[in-house]
Amino acid sequence: MAMLSRAASSAARRPLLPPPRLLAVRAMASSLFGHVEPAPKDPILGVTEAFLADPSSDKVNVGVGAYRDDNGQPVVLSCVREAERRIAGNLNMEYLPMGGSVKMIEESLKLAYGEDSDFIKDKRIAAVQALSGTGACRLFADFQKRFLPDSQIYIPTPTWSNHHNIWRDAQVPQKTFTYYHPESRGLDFSGLMNEIKNAPDGSFFLLHACAHNPTGVDPTEEQWREISHQFKGLPVVIQREMPRQSEFSLKMDTKLDVLSHTQRTWDFMDKEQDA
Ligand SMILES: Cc1ncc(COP(=O)(O)O)c(C=O)c1O
Repeated sequence: MAMLSRAASSAARRPLLPPPRLLAVRAMASSLFGHVEPAPKDPILGVTEAFLADPSSDKVNVGVGAYRDDNGQPVVLSCVREAERRIAGNLNMEYLPMGGSVKMIEESLKLAYGEDSDFIKDKRIAAVQALSGTGACRLFADFQKRFLPDSQIYIPTPTWSNHHNIWRDAQVPQKTFTYYHPESRGLDFSGLMNEIKNAPDGSFFLLHACAHNPTGVDPTEEQWREISHQFKGLPVVIQREMPRQSEFSLKMDTKLDVLSHTQRTWDFMDKEQDA
């Protein structure tokens, strides 16, 4: 009891400084990491910062693409609330296998390709769980670098700006392909098809499966068929990103179709390789 009160009174006299070990780390950090420049600000998140700093009462944030109600508050879809309710208290809190939750992967594939997809039934799709869309891209870029070090990635012009950073940091050579046509504010379809035709063997193409960021311009169903057909004639590999399926669920049927078409391309390529 006496010891406790001595400790308590000395703590009360102690000046409000961080513990010495922390100070040592800070001192070291300033010399070790002194040359590290802060990363440049993300242009879209920068709009949010400008929005928050703006004192106007009539302001609207058109930076980040997220639903807001009439009071500018986030809209949480009722299906999200329902999903929260169903999983609350039922989650597996153990470590997952390296590839992620098998059940979640199975259900995600069904969502993307359809319950009755032959690709799933015939086990012609390999999938792993990744941390978010950014994490999935990075995982794929690292995979590409490790196992196909001579390949390159074709990224649409324009695209979500992080695509460039992700493949740059994974040290995969990048090319861009024509996508948006500013005059028509639509797809530069012939430009896109030409670039696919002229891509070197073994290239990867990054396609947004729906709600292309930042233009919102997607190929029509017929155009997807032609794109898919064009890929079939070439040993190029497609990567598809579909980060917006919840926001653009009305487009789900088209998107499923897109995935099936491009999956057929993969399928075709596998058969070619087996032959
Ligand atoms: C095309 C695209 N991919 C990936 C992401 C990021 O996804 P996540 O927030 O799940 O990392 C975005 C976010 O805007 C995006 O537009």
